[in-house]
Amino acid sequence: MKQSSKVIIVAIDGPAGAGKSTVAKTLARKLGYLHIDTGAMYRCVTLKALRSKTNLESNHDLENLAKTSNVELKPGEPENKVFLDGEDVSKEIRTPEVTKSSAFIANCVPVRKILVARQQQMGRVDSAPYGGAVLEGRDIGTDVFPDAQYKFYLDASVEMRAKRRLRDLEKAGTQTTLESVMADVQARDDRDMNRAVGGLRKTADSIIMDHSELSVEESAEELYQFIRQHPR
Ligand code: DC
Repeated sequence: MKQSSKVIIVAIDGPAGAGKSTVAKTLARKLGYLHIDTGAMYRCVTLKALRSKTNLESNHDLENLAKTSNVELKPGEPENKVFLDGEDVSKEIRTPEVTKSSAFIANCVPVRKILVARQQQMGRVDSAPYGGAVLEGRDIGTDVFPDAQYKFYLDASVEMRAKRRLRDLEKAGTQTTLESVMADVQARDDRDMNRAVGGLRKTADSIIMDHSELSVEESAEELYQFIRQHPR
């Protein structure tokens, strides 16, 4: 752990399935920084809403739920652990039902405000002992840390992302087809990009990287080398 007064923020945004999570985790480890998976936070609120049968269309109810949720992200190997109100929900937040319903939570502006404020706190304060944080999501470089020292936009083709997703689903024992997964990936892109608040957008200072052809290790190494060669 480094002691530094200046916290370095690395933002990684991009569409679902571009490998952001593993790249962000690997990059954070190389840099010795804190890794903050902001999608896991939206997923936790989604899980809590589903379990409590909260009306997913009520901004007021979802806001109350987010206000009273305690989400903790704990570094771990091979996977980070995610705790919701003290319970390890690392697996539960990755089910297809949570993935699908998370769109309602992501669209809820009052929930976004609460989660963005928490992410800013984690990035500025919790990461201080590490010297920096790698935050991944959709709106990190635009809304959460518009002044991040590094803003990466990690892209990959719909087909490549769908192929990766299909492999993960098959590993988890789910039978489906590439066409169906491609349609899902495309639908998620449309939702993420067309959201009125917190939508996925490139900025003028985004460093755009297309990693369709790279492995996670290679992607993380490319980002790492970029940071090393461009001290800020
Ligand atoms: O990256 P992910 O698939 O784990 O994200 C889960 C959901 O949260 C997905 O609907 C997109 C949304 N999300 C968001 O709106 N803003 C973020 N910064 C991160 C995720």
